[in-house]
Amino acid sequence: MKTYIDLFAGAGGMSLGFEMANFKNIFAIEYDKEIAQTYARNFPKNKLIIKDIQKFTNQEIIECIDGIDVDVIVGGPPCQGFSLAGRIGRSFIEDDRNYLFKEFLRVVKVVKPKIFIIENVARMLSHNKGETMKEIISRFTKLGYSVQYKILQASDYGVPQKRRRIFIVGTTEGSFNYPLPNQKIVTVKEAIGDLPFLKSGNVSDIPNHIAMKHTEQMLTKMSYIKNGGNRSQIPEEIRPKTGDIRKYIRYSSEKPSVTVTGDMRKIFHYEQNRALTARELARLQTFPDTFIFEGKSISIQQQIGNAVPPLLSYAIAKKVKESLREVILNGPTVS
Ligand SMILES: C[S@@+](CC[C@H](N)C(=O)[O-])C[C@H]1O[C@@H](n2cnc3c(N)ncnc32)[C@H](O)[C@@H]1O
Repeated sequence: MKTYIDLFAGAGGMSLGFEMANFKNIFAIEYDKEIAQTYARNFPKNKLIIKDIQKFTNQEIIECIDGIDVDVIVGGPPCQGFSLAGRIGRSFIEDDRNYLFKEFLRVVKVVKPKIFIIENVARMLSHNKGETMKEIISRFTKLGYSVQYKILQASDYGVPQKRRRIFIVGTTEGSFNYPLPNQKIVTVKEAIGDLPFLKSGNVSDIPNHIAMKHTEQMLTKMSYIKNGGNRSQIPEEIRPKTGDIRKYIRYSSEKPSVTVTGDMRKIFHYEQNRALTARELARLQTFPDTFIFEGKSISIQQQIGNAVPPLLSYAIAKKVKESLREVILNGPTVS
């Protein structure tokens, strides 16, 4: 059985894809206790380290692996540096704001997996005029990896959502081919249309399927948009002081969803006057209904929004398997 480690595991979207492809988890690390509860509940057999990765020493990593051959390390290190302008001429990895990236590099250096996969926001590619990517490639190349990258669009892989993410893949032997797009696009209605009609505040017996409550103000703003109105038509007392009413939008039922993030309160159901429930958002991320999210509502929304859609992760995991198989078939490279 092929093995993997999940760094920055979150709720476990990435892990789920690898489990679906029959990879065995060696350990996962996540420091947020609420988020870790979700991971632990859905992956009870996996060893979950609940601690800040910076405090997870090289010695502890070696003990955790316990001599097992690690095939893959996956992870999406959150990098604050992307939301801010790059510092021209300065190292991205050495920038304090991107310390988690450095941690990923450290763990790869200690574990030496056959393959690593980093998932991140697509704008990583153009960050600092491309210098950031060059630096990342150079740092992993120095560790002995051949590095490639590609931006994948989730809706090309059966995910009912537009979500562009970069996947950086490093291999030691053999080749890795990114998964090819599926032909069929899944729409929002196909993904959530079977879930029951909910009135704001209603609770249904589907786990995590609780309608979010909306103020009358929000519903009124919505009704203007529904009727094709513009900002100046909204009564003064409820007009948003900053921002744009176009931020309040209604889903189209016939298209994939816009990118699911940690705050989807302003995007309404395609035919009901409410935002989506956590369960509906989880469907748009391709989590099965058996996957239960733990924690407060705000944390649950973040866990869902931060996740790699399991179906996209599965498409990648299958390709990783192919790559690992190729290494076995060809035997170790003779140097
Ligand atoms: C983008 S999310 C990962 C989502 C995950 N790959 C998935 O598919 O569900 C990043 C995660 O890293 C965790 N994290 C951030 N800083 C960390 C640290 N210093 N140590 C461990 N985990 C950390 C966050 O709590 C968050 O859950």
